[in-house]
Amino acid sequence: MLVLLVLLLLVLGPGVASEITLELPDNAKQCFYEDIMQGTKCTLEFQVITGGHYDVGCRLEDPDVNVLHKEMKKQYDSFTFTASKNGTYKFCFSNE
Ligand SMILES: *[C@@H]1O[C@H](CO)[C@@H](O)[C@H](O)[C@H]1NC(C)=O
Repeated sequence: MLVLLVLLLLVLGPGVASEITLELPDNAKQCFYEDIMQGTKCTLEFQVITGGHYDVGCRLEDPDVNVLHKEMKKQYDSFTFTASKNGTYKFCFSNE
């Protein structure tokens, strides 16, 4: 089953708002990366837009690979965090 989801990443401040549509085939995992400066407030939001039964897992890691947020089996999720350091933050989505 293919899952389509819309992802919104808001980086406040001198920021960016990215809206991304992701396609996740069955058992697939997709990650993307965003460089974020220390002290920046960010909101990550996603919404599954196809079907009624598709559950998506979401995982967010900071530049030191600490897990900041982890959710399983969600159709919608919203998470706000403030970057604690400069670096590349990793956002992963899976359909399992
Ligand atoms: C983070 O990056 C900004 C801009 O490059 C810099 O001014 C700041 O000193 C950096 N902070 C740390 C903790 O490295």
